[in-house]
Amino acid sequence: MNIGNVISEKRKALGLTQQALAEKLHVSFQAISKWENGTSCPDIELLPQIAAILKTTIDSLLGYPSQSVTDYDKRYGNEEYYWGLKPNNLCYEIMRIKPPVKPYKVIDIGCGEGKDAVFLARNGYDVTAFDASEQGLSKARELADTYGVKVDFFKADVRDFRLEADYDIIFSSGVFHYIPLELRENVVNNLKAHTTTNGINVVNVFVEKPFIPLPPDTEKGEFVVDSWKSGELFMYYHDWLFHKNEEWIFDCDSSGTPHKHCMDVLIAEKV
Ligand SMILES: C[S@@+](CC[C@H](N)C(=O)[O-])C[C@H]1O[C@@H](n2cnc3c(N)ncnc32)[C@H](O)[C@@H]1O
Repeated sequence: MNIGNVISEKRKALGLTQQALAEKLHVSFQAISKWENGTSCPDIELLPQIAAILKTTIDSLLGYPSQSVTDYDKRYGNEEYYWGLKPNNLCYEIMRIKPPVKPYKVIDIGCGEGKDAVFLARNGYDVTAFDASEQGLSKARELADTYGVKVDFFKADVRDFRLEADYDIIFSSGVFHYIPLELRENVVNNLKAHTTTNGINVVNVFVEKPFIPLPPDTEKGEFVVDSWKSGELFMYYHDWLFHKNEEWIFDCDSSGTPHKHCMDVLIAEKV
């Protein structure tokens, strides 16, 4: 499919008219019409914005299947839930700091098989969630159906998807290490800009420590991008109020070989 077909298909799937898309992009509706009938193409600088509005990736706009950097589709291929169904402890912290006295808008970035997104939806939050793994998303949708809750799950790549709407709570667990160094500031600034006042960002990230050997998964392509430095995540949020900034070292044998990880955990509020 060429880019015009992809734009047309995704626009219609979201129920957007050509005029509505044109307004969001500050272009004329004739421009959209020309892209969609193949007589012209959007400027390259518009691609990140088009991808964000159409809830997709630049890769898929250009007709490439979105390549997850990982083998998660395979890991999520079994019937059981790879990460189990117990919600992340950070979900309870979210409930403590921002109890669902109203349907706060949450986005779960890299939601995997959806255990946390579904848990939060079951507790009254208005949840949107994305992941690069189609297999994970399909199990996540099944889980939401099982509990009879609505979660807006969609496929996107954290490296090129940028938020357009504002959220009260932005949550991401075990995903930021997939964001390459050169994109980090841009990704984090987008999340911060799209957090409501008194909203929170709840994020953890694996960090490097000189005294902890690299995990064995490294050779298998799990930790493929530049590691985060200890404290780096906190620096990006230096101008927010910290509810939690912790670093912990834990044992893991996800690859079958026991090893250790170091993780920075942040809960920060935009004041
Ligand atoms: C360690 S798992 C964490 C899943 C989930 N947050 C949880 O805690 O159960 C990492 C997740 O990041 C997703 N992921 C990896 N690369 C990604 C990317 N570039 N964009 C979006 N998601 C990605 C994987 O598919 C996987 O579901």
